[in-house]
Amino acid sequence: MILVVKSGGAEAVPEWAAGFPSHMDVRWWDEPGLDPALVEYAVVWDPEPGRLAQFPRLKAIFGSGAGVDHIAADPHLPKHVPLIRCVPWEAAQRMGEFVCWAVLSLAKEARRMALQQAARAWENVDPPYAAAARTVGIMGLGAMGEHTARMLQGLGIPVRGWSRSRKDIPGVASFAGADELDAFLAGTDVLVCLLPATAETTGIIAAPLLAKLPRGAGLVQVGRGAQQVLPDILAALDSGQLSGAVLDVFTPEPLPPDNPAWTHPGVIVTPHTASLPTRAERARYIAGVIAMLERGETPPHLYDPARGY
Ligand code: GLV
Repeated sequence: MILVVKSGGAEAVPEWAAGFPSHMDVRWWDEPGLDPALVEYAVVWDPEPGRLAQFPRLKAIFGSGAGVDHIAADPHLPKHVPLIRCVPWEAAQRMGEFVCWAVLSLAKEARRMALQQAARAWENVDPPYAAAARTVGIMGLGAMGEHTARMLQGLGIPVRGWSRSRKDIPGVASFAGADELDAFLAGTDVLVCLLPATAETTGIIAAPLLAKLPRGAGLVQVGRGAQQVLPDILAALDSGQLSGAVLDVFTPEPLPPDNPAWTHPGVIVTPHTASLPTRAERARYIAGVIAMLERGETPPHLYDPARGY
């Protein structure tokens, strides 16, 4: 069976291929002479609009990452072909590790210490809180959000969550839907955004939402750049409404060199790197899901156009 890949460039194809079982013939999606009618599966990141519609026998499209907004945005996306998000266990683990690092970095004032080190300044930093004294509120409790919640709990940090539907995660207070957003925010000392990019989440992290957090809250943004209004975040840092932010996603990416977030003393910028499982890990996961599809089973993390993720 032929599977085409468009993720990481043509040079990444051998690495992808090494992770799939040998009966899967893994090809670069722009390979000259490749007959599109022979292609059964596609694994893609940010495909050119209209390209997926050119494979007439596709059985499934896989995002090479957890968010498939860049694929769903294709106006010619073949609607009858299942679109599946790639969320291997390793993605949830890495996301949990990143968020724990970010939350601890905010509590330990890592940005301030890095600036002091660069200036060779030995100034005592006296963080007012233990990390475990501040409640982390996670927006988005999918596979990554739930695993992240458990890892934070492992550090002794209280966790609450906000999601579309109510969740039952031991020890995690669950807030659901627009009606409960304000109550969720009011008790959130560090806000973690793990939401998918949908019409509803576009621009959600803006001044009105930030104003509902307790004064001096922290922000960890690992969703999508389109969810945030960056000038509002920087203004909230300047006013003291936010005490610090770790931002991993931006619009556009790469973040332009003249963007003030790069040098803001309250911001740690990371280059969309929060959770990147290896290609081998992702290939193993996708191969497992293909085996499920071939057995006629319903795959996990199926994109639902009505929900938008
Ligand atoms: C990365 O942002 C992903 O969607 O996997």
